[in-house]
Amino acid sequence: MHFIGRGAEAILYKKNSYLVKKRVSKGYRIKELDEKLRRKRTLNEVNLMVKARRNGITVPAIVEKDMEEYKITMEFIEGKILKDFLEKFDKKKREDVCHKIGKNITKLHSSGIMHGDLTTSNIILNNGELYIVDFGLGKNSKKIEDFAVDLNLIKRALIAKHNKIWKLVFKKILENYTLKEKEKVIERMEKIEKRGRYA
Ligand SMILES: Nc1ncnc2c1ncn2[C@@H]1O[C@H](COP(=O)(O)OP(=O)(O)OP(=O)(O)O)[C@@H](O)[C@H]1O
Ligand SMILES: [Mg+2]
Repeated sequence: MHFIGRGAEAILYKKNSYLVKKRVSKGYRIKELDEKLRRKRTLNEVNLMVKARRNGITVPAIVEKDMEEYKITMEFIEGKILKDFLEKFDKKKREDVCHKIGKNITKLHSSGIMHGDLTTSNIILNNGELYIVDFGLGKNSKKIEDFAVDLNLIKRALIAKHNKIWKLVFKKILENYTLKEKEKVIERMEKIEKRGRYA
């Protein structure tokens, strides 16, 4: 067993060739709510990852879910998270990654999946193959609003963590985002931004 990390609400470790993600109890939440959230997010994550994989999106394969301990066992993906390599890549490699991100978000949305936490820590690159993880805050959705929130999230994550190159990167991602309703999604994203600015 090899400790990988502690996220906002889960601990992660490697066991053989698997990654185990266990949602632990948060003392500051009342017990009923705590159980409810851990249950909901664990189920969400499993269901959406299974659905994503069926629709041809590269996500780690789910191996097991344990609803007693709110624990998911999935394929371990060797590689690096986007946050750690985006700046290090040359232009060509970066564009290739942006292409893949745009295409993957398109596929998620056209499959009726909102990711809900699209950040550069939730994208892993493994031998040129891009994997998306962390679906606990996602949902089944076909709403323009939800897709716009996804785009807004990745944009904000890029601005926050990759301030020198975010514009180029986001532009390339959007170029490769080819959802049928793309225009509407982008329009809505701009509205969300304005809402954020004046709120
Ligand atoms: N299947 C996997 N294989 C390898 N590494 C993984 C895998 N899943 C997650 N990781 C690594 O663990 C980190 C945290 O995982 P994840 O984002 O799922 O948890 P989290 O941020 O704590 O989630 P939550 O917001 O649901 O609490 C990722 O950024 C990634 O580095
Ligand atoms: Mg995460």
